[in-house]
Amino acid sequence: MFEHQDVLSALNGKLPLPEKIAYVHELLKKRFDFIDRISVAIYEPKTDLLKTYVHSSDEASPLTLYSAKLADSESMQEILKVGRPRVVNDLDIFSNVRREHTRRIAAVQYQSSYTMPMFQNGEFFGFLFFNSHRKNVFVESVLHHLDMVGHLLSLLVIHELSTTRSLYAIVKTAANITLHRDYETGAHLDRMSNYARLIAKEVAKKYRLNDELVEHIFLFSPLHDIGKIGISDSILLKPGKLTESEFDIMKTHASKGGEIIDMMLKNLGMDEFPHAEILRNIALYHHEAINGSGYNGLMDEEIPIEAKIVAVSDVFDALTSVRPYKEAWSNDRAFMFLQSMAGTKFDKDCVAALVNCRTEVEAIQQRFQENPVG
Ligand code: C2E
Ligand code: SIN
Ligand code: SIN
Ligand code: FE
Ligand code: FE
Repeated sequence: MFEHQDVLSALNGKLPLPEKIAYVHELLKKRFDFIDRISVAIYEPKTDLLKTYVHSSDEASPLTLYSAKLADSESMQEILKVGRPRVVNDLDIFSNVRREHTRRIAAVQYQSSYTMPMFQNGEFFGFLFFNSHRKNVFVESVLHHLDMVGHLLSLLVIHELSTTRSLYAIVKTAANITLHRDYETGAHLDRMSNYARLIAKEVAKKYRLNDELVEHIFLFSPLHDIGKIGISDSILLKPGKLTESEFDIMKTHASKGGEIIDMMLKNLGMDEFPHAEILRNIALYHHEAINGSGYNGLMDEEIPIEAKIVAVSDVFDALTSVRPYKEAWSNDRAFMFLQSMAGTKFDKDCVAALVNCRTEVEAIQQRFQENPVG
């Protein structure tokens, strides 16, 4: 009675999204061995950016940590306009397209592709790509199967994206209710999360951070000080230097943040959410130091990379901003300060990543200036 093994049973378990996709890919290859790559690019309406997100392929991905404006890709827009998936059985037709992603894909010689737009309730979430090294493989009988698999994959991706966004929205709302009193303005949070993404991309190779992780670091980094909700105004907004006992209380904002996040996850029934760990680590460990002199005394290799990245981003922005207790520093002074503590307080790679991206740092500062009105 129970002899049949459900071929997709692995999807029932708690697996990270890339592994679920790799699993479906493996299964699909048993029947269609020419499908060499499955990848997902997600769409961010606010910026019109299409961003690489997850992929499954044997070779090193020709396209990760990459984003491009949808407005700049006519062929991608065409798919949305027509409202149908696109079959390209000979990618040579794009050989005169000089766009970076096309060139990179050509570099590993994909010959054909099937591209499905991902929608839920009419909302566009991104594209799903099936690629092959062979030409003319995406024929009608194959597409019939790929459509079903494609919709399954879309659901998996969209479900995870929606969960992440809900978690973010809930924690952010809780923060906004009380954080109005704080000097941590929206501009500070925009800048520091953009620095965090910049650093994450720079160190991605060394620390094996994929697109999905970089995205979660960007999304969750503004929530690092959520625990300041629990610190009284008299300490949080004190115009001068904190006494030792006041600073001891201030330091509890990290563990308080961890507790708040755990409580929310529990109340939401989201304890099992795979990316919750990144959020938790950012709140708990953004004040750790490489040499163990931070809030919890964790040593270098015990500190999660997301916390190291956020530490550098947060301190750089704290230094270059006005605080009730300090003036704003110049970028030069702040870079010098970070470099002087690279390897002792801050992670060397993270500091180097930020310092080496001065142009991008200044562009972020230009883009997210303090609004004097509010
Ligand atoms: P914050 O203002 O967001 O600062 C984050 C971190 O940036 C600080 O973590 C520290 O590592 C760095 N930082 C900020 N300003 C300076 C500075 O003028 N010099 C140096 N060397 N580093 C700076 P830290 O020290 O653990 O402080 C955590 C939080 O405690 C701060 O968050 C702030 O809310 C509060 N705080 C720290 N010192 C004072 C103070 O003297 N007066 C007041 N009112 N609050 C303070
Ligand atoms: C991607 O690989 O994520 C997008 C580009 C493509 O495969 O055509
Ligand atoms: C484009 O860059 O718009 C065309 C290339 C592709 O869709 O892979
Ligand atoms: Fe903090
Ligand atoms: Fe901060």
